[in-house]
Amino acid sequence: MTTPVTTTGQTPATDDGAAQDRTAQDRTAQGRTAQDRAARGKAAPRKVPTRRMSFEESLAQVPKHFATDGNIILSHLAAALSSLFPDGEEFFVRSVRRLRDQVTDPELKRQVAGFIGQEAVHGREHRAFNDRLAELGYPTKLYERITNRTLTWRERIMSPRSNLAATAALEHFTATLAELVLSNQQVRDLFGDPAVRDLFVWHALEESEHKAVAFDVYKAVGGSERTRVLTMNVMRFGFVAGLVLQVVASVLTDRDAYDPRRLWRDWRAVRRSPLLSKQLWLALRDYNRPDFHPDDRDTTALVAHWRDELFGEHGSLNDKLATSAA
Ligand SMILES: [Fe+2]
Ligand SMILES: [Fe+2]
Repeated sequence: MTTPVTTTGQTPATDDGAAQDRTAQDRTAQGRTAQDRAARGKAAPRKVPTRRMSFEESLAQVPKHFATDGNIILSHLAAALSSLFPDGEEFFVRSVRRLRDQVTDPELKRQVAGFIGQEAVHGREHRAFNDRLAELGYPTKLYERITNRTLTWRERIMSPRSNLAATAALEHFTATLAELVLSNQQVRDLFGDPAVRDLFVWHALEESEHKAVAFDVYKAVGGSERTRVLTMNVMRFGFVAGLVLQVVASVLTDRDAYDPRRLWRDWRAVRRSPLLSKQLWLALRDYNRPDFHPDDRDTTALVAHWRDELFGEHGSLNDKLATSAA
């Protein structure tokens, strides 16, 4: 498979270890226009199609340590992420829905409908994956419950605008990880089992397609820069620390992890992977830049490449597609 490049010729995020320089110079013309539009409550045109997918059948055969080389830590990391998605994405949908009446731009309204549709299908498919993982002994159902309770509690004590700020921040996480997955073959290989890789690659494509929607709604309803950056500061440390704890606790439930040599080998593979690169951390931190917009990172060509790869005439996931609505 050829390495896709962005329309501006940028090297995709952390591709083959290349530095991901997200400085002000990195801003694209597309990003600058999108920032101006967002300030006026408008969104750049983009396609956010709701694709009805079904991965359940292929996920039914996933083995316990599905990640590359049977890596225990990577398997538990993917399982931990997957167990956050269903309830996390329902929270994203509720946050956007609660304020969508204040959106006046017809283009942004249309994108909100697409965003809600995409996140709903992600939640459903990841729940199916989590069911399979629970059968294999992963604590995914417990993590789903904890995520649900934490976010429901947050909604009760924080304002709708603050919850939308949290959604926009977490959408930057998913968009950054999505770009890494779509642009880096080495990262895609880490998923190991083809059914798991397909699930995450499809999810990554759609996260890239709708990466600016929650952000643009936040801007359209008058969300402040101060709350946006403050929320990200809390999220960046809280989310990463929470995820590390979650993975450690999950690994501790796994008997196969009580083999120090195997665990050390698996940890070394994780440490050498692009998942722990400084570039990824810098990419997350870029959100704090005063005039940041998700479109600063031009992923148009990357998205076009993967739409064709997955859903084009000979798309590899056409067989998992029930229906598609623009
Ligand atoms: Fe999603
Ligand atoms: Fe999303």
